[in-house]
Amino acid sequence: MSGMSRRGFLLGGTAAVAVGAAGGLIAGRAVAADLTLPVSAISRSILPGTVTKGMMSFGAGGPPPTLRLLRGRPFSIDVVNDLDEATSVHWHGLRIANAMDGVPYLTQRPIAAGESFRYTLTPPETGTYWYHPHCNTLDQMARGLTGMLVVEDDEDAGFDQDLPLNIRDFRLGEDGQFIELFKARNAARGGTLGTVSTVNWEVTPIYDLPAGSLVRLRLAVTDVTRIGTYDLDGGTAKVVALDANPLPQPVAPRGIVIAPGQRADIALRVPDGEDEIVSLNLRTAKGPRVLVRFRPIGASAGRTLGELKPLRPNRVPEPDLADPETMDFVFGWSPNGDAPAPGVCGTLGYTFWSINRVAWRGDAPGPVDPLAALRRGKSYVLRLRNETPNDHPIHLHGMSFRLLRSDKRKIASLVTDTALLKSQEVMEVALVADNPGNWAFHCHVIEHQKSGLTGYLRVE
Ligand code: C2O
Ligand code: CU
Ligand code: CU
Repeated sequence: MSGMSRRGFLLGGTAAVAVGAAGGLIAGRAVAADLTLPVSAISRSILPGTVTKGMMSFGAGGPPPTLRLLRGRPFSIDVVNDLDEATSVHWHGLRIANAMDGVPYLTQRPIAAGESFRYTLTPPETGTYWYHPHCNTLDQMARGLTGMLVVEDDEDAGFDQDLPLNIRDFRLGEDGQFIELFKARNAARGGTLGTVSTVNWEVTPIYDLPAGSLVRLRLAVTDVTRIGTYDLDGGTAKVVALDANPLPQPVAPRGIVIAPGQRADIALRVPDGEDEIVSLNLRTAKGPRVLVRFRPIGASAGRTLGELKPLRPNRVPEPDLADPETMDFVFGWSPNGDAPAPGVCGTLGYTFWSINRVAWRGDAPGPVDPLAALRRGKSYVLRLRNETPNDHPIHLHGMSFRLLRSDKRKIASLVTDTALLKSQEVMEVALVADNPGNWAFHCHVIEHQKSGLTGYLRVE
């Protein structure tokens, strides 16, 4: 895997100034973007009676807005960096052009303080996605920069309402202020959990929903660390999609495991009676923790789940499994303890993890080898081997893959962009390498991502 032809020449210095019409600097641009999305530091009340300083958000000052795009329709977003540090924005799960993927040095230069970058996104499929920075990732996400993105089409499944639920924790003390965003000893294990669970930046909100109506709940776990098990209690409901991909067979919304980066769409038929509260709960060692409540309001709309049209399946190319090439990826401990290379996109100061025995050297300019080079259009089986005692949600940018098998458990044949690889598990997944470019491949526990468990695949 050495030799110049297989090295990735990462964008650095002035190399990216000539980015083409699809992205780059806004200066001199005549046409306004569809959306201007500022990134800024804000203060906001999360814990009742306190105001949290040092938060960060997208948009006008509240929680990050849910962006709504149309399938197949280009949508341009001017990200304006009003922070006093660099950032970049990644659109998690969207299979889009590599130059729009938001990974510093791999696909663009970091957006410096005061600068802007225009992203043009043409989402190929509908579903529930999200967006977040990929530079200073732990700090910026922990402070609030995780928003949801929904791709719709003209076809309507027949819901009365669509309700995004951005599920995440914040690490706050009792005074509502941030405490240390991670602990190194946890980063070397399962990761550092937050202290306050929120939905859409609120602690246990209650949403009023018309009684007897049909609501699409879009759950996205945008937390930096927490792998959770969730139950929807009350009402009649079924999980209709996972990670933006409709399920051929909807399942009951009980014991849904959602790791950082993953999503679940639930079709809820709201109960008829105003006292029949529905709740979304997180399982914890101390019992269920209620994250959000739904209260039926008014006379029953009298709808039934059977009235919903099934969601249209996504057109993700099916890998040819007759004679695929198999590639091995070993997720392990870091063979060396060197700190990652410093740079404007920050480091945690530690290296703990590796992929194929190589620890990511940090988000910094300069050439870096891809973990593997894939031929465009060819099918591959990726054999993911977890040598560690921790679980890792493994995420691939730019392409989705199908889960084939595990040596530990029965797994459903789902299509996803983020798969939870359990401790000591070997899982095989397959994909068609149909999207050219350098695609980040990493654990979505951000402390792991930032302390070595990152690499990239090249499709050429
Ligand atoms: Cu949602 Cu590279 O990440
Ligand atoms: Cu991603
Ligand atoms: Cu991990």
